[in-house]
Amino acid sequence: MDRRELLQAVGGIGALNALAGTPLFSQGMASEGVAPSRAFTTSFENFREQFGPTEIPFDNPLPTDLVGTLYRNGPARMKRGDSNYHHWFDGDGMIQSFFIQGKTLRHSGKIVQTDKYKTEQKAGRFLWSGFGTSFDDALQPHKPDDINVANISVLPMGDEILALWEAGSAWRIDSKSLDTLGRKVFSAETNGLPFSAHPRVDSLGRIWNFGYLSGQNKIVLYELSPSGVLKRVQVVDSKKSNMIHDFAMTEQYLIFALMPIDFIPPTEPGIPSFLSMLKWDDNSSVDLLVIDKETLSVVTKIEIPPFFVFHFGNAWQEGSDLRIETARGPDFHALMNQIELATRGKALDAELPSHTAMDIIVDLVAGSVRTENLPFRGADFPCFDERFPGERTNLLVMLERSHSMPNEVFGYDTVSSFDRKSSEMASWSYGPTTIAEEHILVPKPNSKEGRGWILGTAYNWYLDQTEFRVFDTRSLKDGPIASASLPYGLPIGLHGKFVPGNA
Ligand SMILES: [Fe+2]
Repeated sequence: MDRRELLQAVGGIGALNALAGTPLFSQGMASEGVAPSRAFTTSFENFREQFGPTEIPFDNPLPTDLVGTLYRNGPARMKRGDSNYHHWFDGDGMIQSFFIQGKTLRHSGKIVQTDKYKTEQKAGRFLWSGFGTSFDDALQPHKPDDINVANISVLPMGDEILALWEAGSAWRIDSKSLDTLGRKVFSAETNGLPFSAHPRVDSLGRIWNFGYLSGQNKIVLYELSPSGVLKRVQVVDSKKSNMIHDFAMTEQYLIFALMPIDFIPPTEPGIPSFLSMLKWDDNSSVDLLVIDKETLSVVTKIEIPPFFVFHFGNAWQEGSDLRIETARGPDFHALMNQIELATRGKALDAELPSHTAMDIIVDLVAGSVRTENLPFRGADFPCFDERFPGERTNLLVMLERSHSMPNEVFGYDTVSSFDRKSSEMASWSYGPTTIAEEHILVPKPNSKEGRGWILGTAYNWYLDQTEFRVFDTRSLKDGPIASASLPYGLPIGLHGKFVPGNA
């Protein structure tokens, strides 16, 4: 597909320009200074353009075969002058690196120098409305990358780390210095098209991703070689492609859960936030779209009762069934409202409706779908042993929200794992003054599936410091095997990846 064909498929430059107006991006105990309601937002008051390098000791030495760097991304800058973003997803992205070896952790962090960031830096103020915040004097963006904050996740690629957003290009980051090297252009024809934040790498090393075009009924599919060379790009026509955060992948298929979110362009002057243009339709359905990886064509589309989902774990085929690990979310607008309250430093107004994790099972022969609940409570950020993508994996790790978490505080406090083989759950809680960030499974070299370590960061708002914990997958409930605490708190982030080896 050449650039002309691609642009025709996505509706041409006009469509891209139309997108420019839609900042797509694609949630007591009182200390002396911090009220629980301000726990979440306090982390962002620690913003600096650069952190570290800071070297701190672990309390216990790490296993000798656990050496490498955890790269994380997340919204960091939420304030310029008197202007504040009011939604977590608005913030300018910052890449954090945590190199771990022996008894040492070395941390660095740098803001991603996107075009948007550099322009606003010069202006000394926020110029554009964001995902969830609008400004009365906001400028009209001319293309999605004008408002690209590169703040969701990372994709390691050679000596670089790609900083990923959802509605625009990836940004190239030097893995050593964390300096921003520029916008990633995979090819002329895909220049500026959205490259989402949850690419998946299959058992052959091939990298799969997508981008969605709100209001255009289009999904762009990407296949990259293991080294990051674009091999194929395909546009799929599909309704309900107004906000898609993640997808699932088996050996043979890519699976999308297209949610009933309508995109309603503004009818009045002004540049609204992207979120304000989205409307959940409870009378509609989630459309499960199954796409063949070889032909990049739709195999089947099945409508099921609506639910909200940000993230999927692993997925695999069992006979004619596809089994998809799914972190089913709560009500979309209620979740967005809770995130805004937390970002504004206000107490959550209600407990989120019950939500859980489940397997979605698609019977390809019967064309039917059923679900089986997984024993997690209020859970998200699923991860699994990524040595086995598209194959059955037994260990699923997620963050949970325990009953001991203060009602006013947004987020998660517990790391949990479920073993499908033994049906055993294991959990460890950080306690009521800490918000856990994503934890990932790092496999032990040459080991069986699920054997290795769970590691991640957490923000202790009572102490205003970020903690790094390492667990053994075999003894999660016994607590961390090694812990280190930074002498500062970091803005609460989103996703990361671990790159093994010496820094
Ligand atoms: Fe995500």
